[in-house]
Amino acid sequence: MPKTSILSKAIAAAFVVLTVSVIGGIITMIILYKTEISTMNPTPRPTRPIATTALPPVMRLPKNLIPLSYKVFLMPHLYTRIIEEVNVTSPNQTMDFVGNSTVSFQCVERTSTIYLKSMKLAVTNGKVKNDNTNEMIEVSAMKTHRDDTNFLEIQLKEALEAGGNYSLSLSFKGEISENLDGMYVSKYVEGVPEYEGDTNTERFLVATQLEPADARKVFPCFDEPDMKAEFHVTIIHRRDTTALGNAEKSGSSILDDEWKFTSFHSTPKMSTYLFAFTVSEFTATRSEHERVEINTYARPEAIAAGHAQYAATITGKILSFYESYFEINYDQKKLDQIALPDLAATAMENWGLVTYHEGALLYEEGVSSILNKEQIATTIAHELAHQWFGNLVTMKWWNDVWLNEGFATYMSFFAVDHVEPTFQLKELNILANLHTAFQMDALASSHPLSPPQEEVQKTSSIIQMFNSITYCKGAAVLRMLADVVGERVFIEGVKTYLSDFSYKNTDQNDLWRSIQKAEDKNGGHTNVKRFMDPWTKQIGYPVITINTTNGEVYQKHFLFNDSAESSLWWYVPIKVMSNTTKPSLVWLESSAPEKKDEFQSKNGEWILANINCTGYYRVNYNPENWDRLLNQLEIDPHRFPPMNRGQLIDNAFFMARAKLVEVTLALNSTRFLRQELDFLPWQLTVKNLEYFVLMFDRSEVYGPMQAYFREQIKGLYNSLRNYTDNSTIPKDHASQHSQILAVEVACSNELPECLEMATKMFAEWMNSNNTNPIHPNLRSVIYCQAVAAGGKKEWDFAWERYQSSSDTSEKEQLRVALSCTKKTWLLNRYLEYTLDPDKIRLMDVGSIISDIAWNPAGHALAWNFIRAHWDYVSEQDGDMLINAVTSRFSTQFELDELERFKTQYTLGPAANEVDQAIEKTQVNIQWVRENKDEILEWFERETAE
Ligand SMILES: *[C@@H]1O[C@H](CO)[C@@H](O)[C@H](O)[C@H]1NC(C)=O
Ligand SMILES: *[C@@H]1O[C@H](CO)[C@@H](O)[C@H](O)[C@H]1NC(C)=O
Ligand SMILES: *[C@@H]1O[C@H](CO)[C@@H](O)[C@H](O)[C@H]1NC(C)=O
Ligand SMILES: *[C@@H]1O[C@H](CO)[C@@H](O)[C@H](O)[C@H]1NC(C)=O
Ligand SMILES: *[C@@H]1O[C@H](CO)[C@@H](O)[C@H](O)[C@H]1NC(C)=O
Ligand SMILES: [Zn+2]
Repeated sequence: MPKTSILSKAIAAAFVVLTVSVIGGIITMIILYKTEISTMNPTPRPTRPIATTALPPVMRLPKNLIPLSYKVFLMPHLYTRIIEEVNVTSPNQTMDFVGNSTVSFQCVERTSTIYLKSMKLAVTNGKVKNDNTNEMIEVSAMKTHRDDTNFLEIQLKEALEAGGNYSLSLSFKGEISENLDGMYVSKYVEGVPEYEGDTNTERFLVATQLEPADARKVFPCFDEPDMKAEFHVTIIHRRDTTALGNAEKSGSSILDDEWKFTSFHSTPKMSTYLFAFTVSEFTATRSEHERVEINTYARPEAIAAGHAQYAATITGKILSFYESYFEINYDQKKLDQIALPDLAATAMENWGLVTYHEGALLYEEGVSSILNKEQIATTIAHELAHQWFGNLVTMKWWNDVWLNEGFATYMSFFAVDHVEPTFQLKELNILANLHTAFQMDALASSHPLSPPQEEVQKTSSIIQMFNSITYCKGAAVLRMLADVVGERVFIEGVKTYLSDFSYKNTDQNDLWRSIQKAEDKNGGHTNVKRFMDPWTKQIGYPVITINTTNGEVYQKHFLFNDSAESSLWWYVPIKVMSNTTKPSLVWLESSAPEKKDEFQSKNGEWILANINCTGYYRVNYNPENWDRLLNQLEIDPHRFPPMNRGQLIDNAFFMARAKLVEVTLALNSTRFLRQELDFLPWQLTVKNLEYFVLMFDRSEVYGPMQAYFREQIKGLYNSLRNYTDNSTIPKDHASQHSQILAVEVACSNELPECLEMATKMFAEWMNSNNTNPIHPNLRSVIYCQAVAAGGKKEWDFAWERYQSSSDTSEKEQLRVALSCTKKTWLLNRYLEYTLDPDKIRLMDVGSIISDIAWNPAGHALAWNFIRAHWDYVSEQDGDMLINAVTSRFSTQFELDELERFKTQYTLGPAANEVDQAIEKTQVNIQWVRENKDEILEWFERETAE
């Protein structure tokens, strides 16, 4: 799953930059992590202690029973539409569902108690049969544990014997969730209302979101990833609706006037979290594929308008790419994708029925921007990679979920590059991914990629695993390994891994062994496990310090907060080159300083390490070499690979934050941008400036800083002005990115010609009847800047459009733009709207509050609002909100408030984020104190005429 936001849940999937939106002068990158996790998972409430039967602290199912297959009947009572007819009382909507299940399992250890997982279900009618003898075994007691274990405990009159096959059948009842978790309801409007208040246009559908631990809310089951089984599913649904499941339909029959049965073939052997079904009135667009029937489902209006066309075009190609890349065919006859109006994640990889947030799947020519298109390609590539990594081969337990997410993220780089080579997204995605991982992993409160199982037991801890470490660091360390053993050997090892462990579960040692096998076979000498374990089992990453005067090099754990002592070290592969030598690989194999020829500058020439940024570490140099590198950047930046140009800036800024280099060195590294027309270096600069903006946009530094960047961006802005002023776009993708970025940087730093252009375009739209003159690529930035520069009139216009637009990407752009206003009362009113589900969809609440928090004018409002409504907002996106609202914290007063917040509120899954926020705030306070004067001086000097 990827999470969160442009799409309201910006994917935080940390994995990839989905899109860029300007908020009050900063560019927020949307990343994909948590894409797949339901962030709406209600925090498990503390339960009243049970006086007599205190439970042992065991969360996990015993492994004495091994499930083989399930037969599941599910009957959601929901109507997809409520028809009002004259003189006929219309039915009331009903949220109940009923069902039954029969699970066949093998007993491997004698027991007279069966444990399953079940949550929010009323379970009755337990029957156990010995499948070998067909005899019934009497159930003496059945109870659901109302605590974090979610155990359904079934006591039997006689014991089940090891080696025996049994089956357990149960009936159950539950309620369709309105919180986007488990089996949930999603709403949308279809058609044109006939009169005011016409509710005939409202439609409902049932969908599921079960990762990581919500299958137990749909039917009682062995709800753990390594308890794989086959599922035979029958959905009983309203006659005029369509049911989809993981596997292809095996039959359907009309039951009576109201009900219909749809049965599905057996699924492959799979984990419970991948179970999915939907009941809706959706229609589909078909994709090309030689063997698999691929359909992309969406609202009938969206399908009729061709919005699923783009997704349909690339899906077959991506699937074929993976099939030949892994040499393993996708293991089902069909693959459905469905665009849901409500989904807590950006997308979810359910085997054979992948669910997407609408914005991550639907593309409207002439309305959606290039960034939407890229996000769609990236998200589909990520989810389809999961059909192998995650679905076919699954981690044993959630502590190793990086094996799913790291691989899906890593593989998506290649798949997108294959289907859309002109996007040139690979390098961009890789760098964005690295930057995101580096950010979180530079904190002492980070966590290892693969923590011990014991630390990831409760559902709330499992949910916390879906973060940028898992997605981004996971992909980054895989890329590093692939570079060391060579991509060919790596993929050979990966193929073995996939075929050896199909339908099974793994931990990371299984992966190391498979790659070792390929490495040995090809005559390589890397000890894969020895090399990789420190990267996955320890937090953080090193900074490599090179002294080119004498060739000395050493490593040290990189932490923003240098007062945190650490003695961690890694096996570090370093690709290094100089002005006169080709890249070569050198290993650093201890924490002690070493002298190496390759790092010594012979004739005063520069030395550059970590070529193409394949290593998951940062590099620092002696001041002389920094000067030479920055000098080279100013004379001829193209001497360095573009990724390294971007990363030099990134390194300099991070190093300055950690006080390893002077902050002025970082600022000096942006000088060459005045001539830089390439996207990557600018992109990295903008990302790094985010921090400067956050620290200083409420201080006197901001004026001179804006003045400096106004000058720096002029060159790029003017080079594209002919396009921009006419609301057209350059041909190639890279220049389109540059154009969007140029407008964002120019406008947010108040370049007059940019502000004028934005205001004028927006006014043209307001005055035109419905035709929007703004090019889709530029809409999000222009909307935001125009709302920021405008007042009530612009805001109300945007709000009215937001309410009436049925186009997802348009809606999202407007939703973000509404948070850009500088008028406090408008921001306040917007915050209040988030409490009203008729105005703001639940899934957008977290994003809106975050967006407001990113705006300097809304920051304090959002912080107050979150505390005032914590119970409500923490149910949505507590962790993401904490991150957004505390990102500017840099005073003692703010730190005190945060610490009070920590002790006075029930934090749930956001607890981790709060700890990280406290650490970050401490770092910020110190950093601002130590650097502010120098920075102010630097900007003033640079901008003095
Ligand atoms: C509805 O009921 C009223 C009174 O009971 C009757 O006059 C009217 O014809 C009915 N309309 C329809 C469409 O059946
Ligand atoms: C719908 O619900 C209302 C109030 O709960 C009840 O009075 C009415 O009879 C219900 N209608 C139907 C058709 O069940
Ligand atoms: C489950 O429900 C279906 C549909 O109502 C029914 O046909 C079937 O017999 C039930 N199975 C069990 C084991 O109760
Ligand atoms: C880099 O090498 C080229 C020749 O290969 C030379 O002309 C140039 O001066 C060198 N630059 C530096 C900074 O050493
Ligand atoms: C680099 O090495 C030289 C020669 O040993 C030494 O004089 C210099 O101080 C070192 N520079 C740094 C930054 O450690
Ligand atoms: Zn994923």
